[in-house]
Amino acid sequence: MLPMRFASKKPGSVAPPSSLIYIEPDLTLKNFIVKHETGVPPLVVGDDLTGKTMVVVGANTGIGLAAAKLFASMKASRVIMACRNEEKGTKAVAGVEEATGTKSAELWLVDLGKFSSIVEFCDRWEKEGGRLDILIMNAGIAVWGTWDILEGWESTLQINHLGTSLFSLLLLPRLQEMARESLEQTRLVFVGSDTHYFVTINEYLRNSPSILRTLNDKEKASLTCQTMVSAPGQDQRYPISKLLNLLFSRSLAARLGPSSQHPSIEHEGRRIELHERTSEQGAYQLMWAALGPTNPSDNDHIRGAYVVDNEITEPSDFVISKEGHEVQERIRNETIEILRGVAPKISEIVDQSLRA
Ligand SMILES: NC(=O)c1ccc[n+]([C@@H]2O[C@H](COP(=O)([O-])OP(=O)(O)OC[C@H]3O[C@@H](n4cnc5c(N)ncnc54)[C@H](OP(=O)(O)O)[C@@H]3O)[C@@H](O)[C@H]2O)c1
Repeated sequence: MLPMRFASKKPGSVAPPSSLIYIEPDLTLKNFIVKHETGVPPLVVGDDLTGKTMVVVGANTGIGLAAAKLFASMKASRVIMACRNEEKGTKAVAGVEEATGTKSAELWLVDLGKFSSIVEFCDRWEKEGGRLDILIMNAGIAVWGTWDILEGWESTLQINHLGTSLFSLLLLPRLQEMARESLEQTRLVFVGSDTHYFVTINEYLRNSPSILRTLNDKEKASLTCQTMVSAPGQDQRYPISKLLNLLFSRSLAARLGPSSQHPSIEHEGRRIELHERTSEQGAYQLMWAALGPTNPSDNDHIRGAYVVDNEITEPSDFVISKEGHEVQERIRNETIEILRGVAPKISEIVDQSLRA
């Protein structure tokens, strides 16, 4: 099923251009009104997080900042706010302290657009990070009209997909170790987007030797990044980046091993979907992905799940199709091959933490 979404974001922010309106094709007027009248799903999880450590990447503003405040207000012992800008991050930490009356927030600097910065963060975590219970991969960008190359990669590909994947993989062993030590679930949450419903990895890309390298080729962008069903011709790098990390997170979840065999290893590669709403309302959904479901008997279904509005939801038809599964494996292999080149430790992590 396709979800409905309205986009009205400021330029440079992470939603698609304001000229686009995405409406579920088979959405009736009645359903449309009901959906809006029923409003935003409330915050339904609110554990006491005493003793736990949360890392929120991209925490100085928007949904990430709101999530950091919620974690602090739930008495998390440490809320690590991973931000790329020291000034903005320091202000955000002060904002969390003021809003919650706690002192649990800490600023750690990381720029997902620089592989070395991610490696540095994770090396530091190994030495002095300590406990890690929940990792929220929230940072993301959306760009239109410009094509910036960071470290050899177009910025959306680098930050939203490669940087996010590298950070997650480097901290995965710590999450696993933590779960074994504490016999409690640890969680890895990727913040996604319903825009993934509107794109696929098209035939041109599937026939190319490398999907990621072809996506990175500006000259081929008209063949690879403009496949939007509802708005042909629009730049699709943001939705495609969200589709890529959905596929990558599913490939991770599939390799973590069944929890019945390793009951103490409870990682969740999960997706969360956010409709147009305030940052705090968006963060409620993130909380559900991090701390839900409310009924513990549903825990078995949550690994690798795509979550929308306090519910596990089916991702796009492409994601669950045969082609989608094949592309998922290719994206995994290509991503790991690229990340091995920037962080040799990835090979060891893949061998030890993920089944072949
Ligand atoms: N808002 C929505 O309607 C919506 C809908 C669906 C999904 N989402 C997803 O939700 C997440 C948060 O969205 P938002 O609306 O809260 O976005 P936002 O207000 O633009 O915040 C994005 C965060 O990511 C950080 N970030 C960007 N590039 C980074 C980098 N290279 N390294 C480290 N941090 C970086 C930003 O830091 P700076 O301030 O330094 O740039 C900021 O903290 C995104 O992943 C987005 O795709 C949002």
